[in-house]
Amino acid sequence: MRTRVMPSPGAPRPSLEAELALHRAEFARRFAGDGEPSFFFSPGRVNLMGAHLDYNGGPVMPTAIDRGTFVAVRARSDRRVRMQSTLDGRALEFELDRVPASKSGAWSDYPLGVLREMLELAELRGGTARLAGLEILFGGNLPVGAGLSSSASICVGAAFVLDRMGELRSERLELVHAALRAERGFVGVQCGIMDPFAVGLARPGQLLWLDCRDTTWSWMPLDPRVYAIAIADTLVRRELAQGAFNQRVLECRAAFEALRVHQPDARCLRDVRMEVLDAHRAELEPVIARRAEHVIHEVARTFAARAALQRHDPQGLGIQMTRAHGSLRELFDVSVPELDLLVETAVDAPGVLGTRLTGAGFGGCTVILLRRGAETELAERLVRAFEPRFGRKPRVEVFAGDAGPREIAL
Ligand code: GLA
Repeated sequence: MRTRVMPSPGAPRPSLEAELALHRAEFARRFAGDGEPSFFFSPGRVNLMGAHLDYNGGPVMPTAIDRGTFVAVRARSDRRVRMQSTLDGRALEFELDRVPASKSGAWSDYPLGVLREMLELAELRGGTARLAGLEILFGGNLPVGAGLSSSASICVGAAFVLDRMGELRSERLELVHAALRAERGFVGVQCGIMDPFAVGLARPGQLLWLDCRDTTWSWMPLDPRVYAIAIADTLVRRELAQGAFNQRVLECRAAFEALRVHQPDARCLRDVRMEVLDAHRAELEPVIARRAEHVIHEVARTFAARAALQRHDPQGLGIQMTRAHGSLRELFDVSVPELDLLVETAVDAPGVLGTRLTGAGFGGCTVILLRRGAETELAERLVRAFEPRFGRKPRVEVFAGDAGPREIAL
């Protein structure tokens, strides 16, 4: 495993092309043979509003970031597929006619699940017999397990790459759904729809507004010359985070089952009104009622955040972000002391509009919306507050937006 030294905010970062050139050299080292590979990039995402709403049918406001998955890929003259990653030594090899049908617990489950989905699409579009084998090297610059959706980045990215290599000409949404089916089906993670949509529908300088009840979306501009999006990574990675996430999904489902009886028009927890919860709170386990309360208020906060952006008031979005963190801590129980300290410190820093934990929680990162020019002071304050208490520096990074999965000419 390679150690990656993250540049401090403000320090020049290597360009995507420079990072991909290193990836090209690594590909050449691992896969002997002729022929230049093709190169692709697929971003990660950070979510600003709508925490734990996607699986409750609520609205979310994510945006893609300029960190993500690198893919180098070359067609073979036979039907063998060889997959490797610079981030994990476990390689995977198989024939296209004998694609593994069960998962192994390794990173390769994600692209393998996507490959299986894309083969089904290919089957519908003229058969798979004409498809060539591939040599694929994955890598990237997105921290894994940090809540920045490395899984959607690799899944949507793999769908995009396989679509290109197989000349399947799928619509972008078909790729998003193939990625989602792979993660839910083959990999077996009960993820919501936010992440693959945020990656697949990315536009630079825009937040995605995705309504997860009916999968409608639009884009909302946030001027990148004036505002920056930063993350502060606690470096806390919880082994049990997946189980705790699934538990939140079940608790929300229990809340909806109990409350829908009293509001028959509700199709998901997002629809339930606060007065219905208030009137029937005593029928719910206290913990279930707190989960519902978070969801109902977070729906209202997310609509308020959108209204603020629509009236060109990013400060209003920031206020809702910081309120959301309080609810995630008090009602949804997904924060940890490291995240709380980063939020408490960032809200007082000059130029910061709002901050909260992002992703599922239980560790990972906070997201910070701030004015350009305030990045260095913010990073210094976060380190000064965090290091004496937790004995290490948080990793602070500033992101630019991204245009979504694409081929990059080197
Ligand atoms: C994880 C999931 C997302 C979403 C967030 C919480 O990141 O992958 O689908 O549920 O948690 O907002």
